[in-house]
Amino acid sequence: MMRAARITGIGSYLPSRVLCNAELERMVDTSDEWITTRTGIRERRLAEEGQATSDLAVVAVERALVDAGLGPADIDLLVVGTSSPDMILPATACLVQARLGMSCPAFDVNAACSGFPYALQVATSAIEAGRASRVVVVGADALTRHIDFADRATCVLFGDGAGAVVVEAAEEPGVLGIVLGADGRGADMLRIAAGGSAAPATPERLAAGEQYLTMNGNEVFRFAVKVIPAATREALEASGCSVEDLAWLVPHQANQRILNTVGERLGIDPERVFSHVHRTGNTSAASIPLALDDLYTSGRLAPGDLVALVGFGAGLTWGAAVVRWTKARTTKEM
Ligand code: COA
Repeated sequence: MMRAARITGIGSYLPSRVLCNAELERMVDTSDEWITTRTGIRERRLAEEGQATSDLAVVAVERALVDAGLGPADIDLLVVGTSSPDMILPATACLVQARLGMSCPAFDVNAACSGFPYALQVATSAIEAGRASRVVVVGADALTRHIDFADRATCVLFGDGAGAVVVEAAEEPGVLGIVLGADGRGADMLRIAAGGSAAPATPERLAAGEQYLTMNGNEVFRFAVKVIPAATREALEASGCSVEDLAWLVPHQANQRILNTVGERLGIDPERVFSHVHRTGNTSAASIPLALDDLYTSGRLAPGDLVALVGFGAGLTWGAAVVRWTKARTTKEM
């Protein structure tokens, strides 16, 4: 009989440094009104000076392990979804593994803001194939390190954070279906050009600002509102469920207007489209597990609830996972 996988623990971490719209008004030619009406974002969190992606991830993993009632030695695979690793190599997952005293295989998955569903697919597949029993899946990013805080088109959107789940082998499936997709023809729409093998970070490139994230916002918006409903429907179909069965849609938290449009297109009650983008901004791969942990922590997720987790991002990539939540409510602090 094929083994199933389910989420048995969750934890997350948001840095304490808050960057609000009023502060951005003093940095670039923007306004709280523009940012709020176009994006819904009121504040975002920035990694502190000296705090790297692995530092954010470590706290999230510690919290997820406590929630699952497990220790670092119990884990047999660690997968970190990130596109802002501490450094090009080694993988951020190895840094997290060492900090937590784990001894399991550890590697990163770079699917940008779709990192969480991609990493969850790796974990679920390993468990279903019998190659792992307890996997930690992390989404962690400090993308603001790659943001030009003089560029108003991007600096208002992003924030930093990390979220992690423990996925364990189980008799009853919790992770029902996952669909992933990519279309590399859209690679130019959202990218960080310098710092890789194609364009090493030379002084000239750094002076030209090529290490910063650039984006075609309008095209990415159009892509997002098309791909999220389609991927959600596909994952629901693969799980033998329908939109009506969903207790929650948890989309990648990029922009409130995207969330509103997606909710309308799927015909879901806006109350069931989770959003806390007003206080996090776009935290890239951390976005979905942060959102899921917020739902769980605030007691809005009940055992048996069906949840769709849907991401999209650079690549272009997308991914949707349908999960039957099996953990009892909690009042743990976030
Ligand atoms: N403050 C004030 N004005 C701004 C601004 C800011 N922070 N950023 C852009 N503008 C200006 C533009 O320069 C433009 O001015 P113009 O008309 O004089 O040229 C005007 O606002 C409209 O810009 P536009 O890009 O058409 O706005 P928009 O309504 O499409 O909103 C985004 C821009 C970026 C908020 C929106 O396209 C978006 O959210 N896209 C998706 C981005 C995303 O999710 N990326 C991450 C994917 S993982």
